[in-house]
Amino acid sequence: MNKGFLVTFEGGEGCGKSTQIKLFIKFLEEQKLNFILSREPGGCVLGEKIRAILLHSKEDMSALSEFFLFCANRAEHVKEVIKPALEEGKIVVIDRYYDSSLAYQGYAGNLDIKKLKNITAFATDNVVPDLTFLLDISYEEGFGRKAKDENLKNLDRIEQRDRAYHEKVRQGYLKLAKEEPNRFVVIDASKSLEEIHEEIIKIFLKRIKK
Ligand code: TYD
Repeated sequence: MNKGFLVTFEGGEGCGKSTQIKLFIKFLEEQKLNFILSREPGGCVLGEKIRAILLHSKEDMSALSEFFLFCANRAEHVKEVIKPALEEGKIVVIDRYYDSSLAYQGYAGNLDIKKLKNITAFATDNVVPDLTFLLDISYEEGFGRKAKDENLKNLDRIEQRDRAYHEKVRQGYLKLAKEEPNRFVVIDASKSLEEIHEEIIKIFLKRIKK
Protein backbone atom coordinates (compact mmCIF):
# COMPACT_ATOMS: atom_id res chain seq x y z
CA MET A 1 0.00 0.00 0.00
CA ASN A 2 1.24 3.46 -0.83
CA LYS A 3 1.14 5.36 2.46
CA GLY A 4 3.82 7.95 1.84
CA PHE A 5 3.62 11.23 -0.02
CA LEU A 6 5.48 11.94 -3.25
CA VAL A 7 6.37 15.56 -4.03
CA THR A 8 8.20 16.49 -7.21
CA PHE A 9 9.79 19.76 -8.32
CA GLU A 10 9.87 20.63 -12.00
CA GLY A 11 10.82 23.57 -14.18
CA GLY A 12 13.07 24.89 -16.92
CA GLU A 13 16.65 26.07 -16.61
CA GLY A 14 17.29 28.80 -14.04
CA CYS A 15 13.85 28.50 -12.43
CA GLY A 16 15.31 28.40 -8.90
CA LYS A 17 14.31 24.79 -8.28
CA SER A 18 17.47 23.82 -6.36
CA THR A 19 17.19 26.78 -4.00
CA GLN A 20 13.52 26.10 -3.33
CA ILE A 21 14.20 22.42 -2.70
CA LYS A 22 16.88 23.35 -0.15
CA LEU A 23 14.45 25.63 1.69
CA PHE A 24 11.71 23.01 1.53
CA ILE A 25 14.00 20.32 2.96
CA LYS A 26 15.05 22.64 5.76
CA PHE A 27 11.37 23.09 6.59
CA LEU A 28 10.78 19.31 6.64
CA GLU A 29 13.76 18.88 8.96
CA GLU A 30 12.49 21.58 11.31
CA GLN A 31 9.08 19.90 11.39
CA LYS A 32 10.81 16.59 12.17
CA LEU A 33 9.04 14.94 9.27
CA ASN A 34 10.30 11.66 7.93
CA PHE A 35 11.51 12.30 4.37
CA ILE A 36 14.07 11.46 1.72
CA LEU A 37 15.40 13.69 -1.04
CA SER A 38 16.38 12.27 -4.40
CA ARG A 39 16.91 13.44 -7.96
CA GLU A 40 16.68 12.53 -11.63
CA PRO A 41 18.67 11.88 -13.63
CA GLY A 42 20.43 9.89 -10.92
CA GLY A 43 18.97 8.89 -7.57
CA CYS A 44 20.48 5.38 -7.38
CA VAL A 45 23.77 3.72 -8.34
CA LEU A 46 22.73 2.76 -11.87
CA GLY A 47 20.89 6.06 -12.24
CA GLU A 48 24.01 8.09 -11.48
CA LYS A 49 25.88 6.17 -14.20
CA ILE A 50 23.08 6.84 -16.68
CA ARG A 51 23.12 10.50 -15.60
CA ALA A 52 26.74 10.80 -16.68
CA ILE A 53 25.86 9.48 -20.15
CA LEU A 54 22.81 11.70 -20.47
CA LEU A 55 24.45 14.94 -19.41
CA HIS A 56 28.03 14.58 -20.55
CA SER A 57 28.28 12.10 -23.40
CA LYS A 58 29.93 13.50 -26.52
CA GLU A 59 27.90 11.41 -28.97
CA ASP A 60 24.72 12.62 -30.60
CA MET A 61 21.59 11.07 -29.22
CA SER A 62 18.05 11.09 -30.56
CA ALA A 63 15.21 12.32 -28.35
CA LEU A 64 13.88 8.76 -28.32
CA SER A 65 17.12 7.15 -27.08
CA GLU A 66 17.41 9.91 -24.53
CA PHE A 67 13.86 9.19 -23.35
CA PHE A 68 14.61 5.49 -22.92
CA LEU A 69 17.76 6.21 -20.94
CA PHE A 70 15.76 8.46 -18.60
CA CYS A 71 13.18 5.66 -18.36
CA ALA A 72 15.79 3.04 -17.48
CA ASN A 73 17.09 5.36 -14.77
CA ARG A 74 13.54 5.97 -13.55
CA ALA A 75 12.53 2.29 -13.47
CA GLU A 76 15.50 1.48 -11.25
CA HIS A 77 15.02 4.60 -9.11
CA VAL A 78 11.34 3.77 -8.48
CA LYS A 79 12.06 0.17 -7.61
CA GLU A 80 15.13 0.75 -5.44
CA VAL A 81 14.40 4.06 -3.77
CA ILE A 82 11.02 5.70 -4.32
CA LYS A 83 8.63 2.78 -3.76
CA PRO A 84 10.36 1.39 -0.67
CA ALA A 85 10.40 4.85 0.93
CA LEU A 86 6.72 5.44 0.14
CA GLU A 87 5.85 2.02 1.54
CA GLU A 88 7.59 3.03 4.77
CA GLY A 89 5.29 6.05 4.90
CA LYS A 90 7.98 8.61 4.10
CA ILE A 91 7.65 11.90 2.30
CA VAL A 92 9.65 11.49 -0.90
CA VAL A 93 10.94 14.67 -2.51
CA ILE A 94 12.40 14.41 -6.01
CA ASP A 95 14.25 17.03 -7.97
CA ARG A 96 12.69 16.19 -11.39
CA TYR A 97 10.70 13.08 -12.30
CA TYR A 98 8.85 11.89 -15.40
CA ASP A 99 7.27 15.27 -16.22
CA SER A 100 10.79 16.37 -17.17
CA SER A 101 10.91 13.65 -19.82
CA LEU A 102 7.47 14.58 -21.13
CA ALA A 103 8.43 18.27 -21.36
CA TYR A 104 12.05 17.92 -22.64
CA GLN A 105 12.14 14.73 -24.73
CA GLY A 106 8.40 14.72 -25.48
CA TYR A 107 7.27 18.26 -26.21
CA ALA A 108 10.64 19.82 -27.02
CA GLY A 109 11.94 16.67 -28.73
CA ASN A 110 8.74 16.32 -30.78
CA LEU A 111 7.84 12.81 -29.65
CA ASP A 112 4.32 11.40 -29.30
CA ILE A 113 3.25 12.34 -25.77
CA LYS A 114 0.55 9.70 -25.50
CA LYS A 115 3.05 6.94 -26.25
CA LEU A 116 5.59 8.39 -23.82
CA LYS A 117 2.94 8.50 -21.10
CA ASN A 118 2.16 4.80 -21.62
CA ILE A 119 5.82 3.82 -21.47
CA THR A 120 6.26 6.01 -18.39
CA ALA A 121 3.39 4.30 -16.58
CA PHE A 122 5.06 0.95 -17.29
CA ALA A 123 8.54 2.13 -16.27
CA THR A 124 7.35 3.69 -13.01
CA ASP A 125 4.86 0.94 -12.12
CA ASN A 126 2.27 3.75 -12.03
CA VAL A 127 3.96 5.66 -9.23
CA VAL A 128 2.46 9.11 -9.74
CA PRO A 129 3.39 12.16 -7.64
CA ASP A 130 0.83 13.34 -5.08
CA LEU A 131 1.95 16.89 -5.68
CA THR A 132 4.10 18.53 -8.37
CA PHE A 133 5.44 22.07 -8.10
CA LEU A 134 6.14 23.58 -11.50
CA LEU A 135 8.37 26.65 -11.20
CA ASP A 136 7.50 28.56 -14.33
CA ILE A 137 10.04 31.02 -15.72
CA SER A 138 10.60 32.76 -19.06
CA TYR A 139 13.65 31.88 -21.17
CA GLU A 140 15.18 35.34 -20.68
CA GLU A 141 14.83 35.31 -16.94
CA GLY A 142 15.92 31.69 -16.51
CA PHE A 143 19.06 31.95 -18.60
CA GLY A 144 19.70 35.45 -17.27
CA ARG A 145 19.86 33.98 -13.78
CA LYS A 146 22.03 31.10 -14.93
CA ALA A 147 24.48 33.52 -16.53
CA LYS A 148 24.76 35.38 -13.23
CA ASP A 149 25.21 32.27 -11.08
CA GLU A 150 27.46 30.07 -13.18
CA ASN A 151 29.70 29.97 -16.16
CA LEU A 152 27.54 29.37 -19.22
CA LYS A 153 30.43 27.49 -20.80
CA ASN A 154 29.82 24.68 -18.32
CA LEU A 155 26.27 23.96 -19.46
CA ASP A 156 25.45 20.27 -19.87
CA ARG A 157 24.36 18.61 -23.12
CA ILE A 158 20.68 19.37 -22.60
CA GLU A 159 21.04 22.88 -21.15
CA GLN A 160 23.10 23.86 -24.20
CA ARG A 161 20.15 23.46 -26.58
CA ASP A 162 18.77 26.53 -28.30
CA ARG A 163 16.14 28.96 -27.23
CA ALA A 164 13.40 27.34 -29.34
CA TYR A 165 13.98 24.03 -27.52
CA HIS A 166 13.71 25.63 -24.09
CA GLU A 167 10.61 27.61 -25.08
CA LYS A 168 8.98 24.31 -26.09
CA VAL A 169 9.97 22.79 -22.75
CA ARG A 170 8.20 25.64 -20.98
CA GLN A 171 5.02 25.37 -23.06
CA GLY A 172 5.09 21.58 -22.68
CA TYR A 173 5.22 21.85 -18.90
CA LEU A 174 2.31 24.30 -18.91
CA LYS A 175 0.25 21.90 -21.03
CA LEU A 176 1.00 19.03 -18.66
CA ALA A 177 -0.05 21.20 -15.71
CA LYS A 178 -3.31 22.12 -17.42
CA GLU A 179 -4.13 18.47 -18.03
CA GLU A 180 -3.67 17.56 -14.37
CA PRO A 181 -4.70 20.59 -12.33
CA ASN A 182 -5.17 18.55 -9.16
CA ARG A 183 -1.61 17.28 -9.13
CA PHE A 184 0.24 20.32 -10.49
CA VAL A 185 0.73 23.67 -8.81
CA VAL A 186 2.19 26.26 -11.17
CA ILE A 187 4.32 28.83 -9.39
CA ASP A 188 5.40 32.11 -10.89
CA ALA A 189 9.16 31.69 -10.42
CA SER A 190 9.86 35.38 -11.07
CA LYS A 191 8.60 36.13 -7.54
CA SER A 192 10.98 36.51 -4.61
CA LEU A 193 12.61 33.50 -3.00
CA GLU A 194 10.68 34.00 0.24
CA GLU A 195 7.31 34.44 -1.45
CA ILE A 196 7.78 31.25 -3.43
CA HIS A 197 8.91 29.32 -0.38
CA GLU A 198 5.88 30.44 1.63
CA GLU A 199 3.55 29.49 -1.20
CA ILE A 200 5.14 26.04 -1.44
CA ILE A 201 4.85 25.38 2.30
CA LYS A 202 1.24 26.56 2.44
CA ILE A 203 0.18 24.30 -0.41
CA PHE A 204 2.19 21.35 0.85
CA LEU A 205 0.63 21.51 4.33
CA LYS A 206 -2.85 21.73 2.88
CA ARG A 207 -2.28 18.73 0.59
CA ILE A 208 -0.55 16.47 3.06
CA LYS A 209 -3.42 16.78 5.52
CA LYS A 210 -5.97 15.62 2.96
P1 TYD B 1 20.42 18.77 -13.58
O1 TYD B 1 21.88 18.85 -13.38
O2 TYD B 1 19.62 17.94 -12.66
O3 TYD B 1 19.94 20.24 -13.71
P2 TYD B 1 18.75 21.12 -13.17
O4 TYD B 1 19.37 21.95 -12.12
O5 TYD B 1 18.37 21.91 -14.40
O6 TYD B 1 17.64 20.24 -12.68
O7 TYD B 1 20.24 18.33 -15.10
C1 TYD B 1 19.17 17.78 -15.55
C2 TYD B 1 19.06 18.10 -17.02
O8 TYD B 1 18.42 16.99 -17.63
C3 TYD B 1 18.15 19.31 -17.25
O9 TYD B 1 18.64 20.08 -18.33
C4 TYD B 1 16.83 18.68 -17.62
C5 TYD B 1 17.21 17.38 -18.25
N1 TYD B 1 16.22 16.29 -18.09
C6 TYD B 1 15.54 15.83 -19.22
O10 TYD B 1 15.76 16.33 -20.33
N2 TYD B 1 14.64 14.80 -19.08
C7 TYD B 1 14.39 14.19 -17.89
O11 TYD B 1 13.57 13.26 -17.79
C8 TYD B 1 15.10 14.68 -16.73
C9 TYD B 1 14.87 14.05 -15.39
C10 TYD B 1 16.01 15.72 -16.88
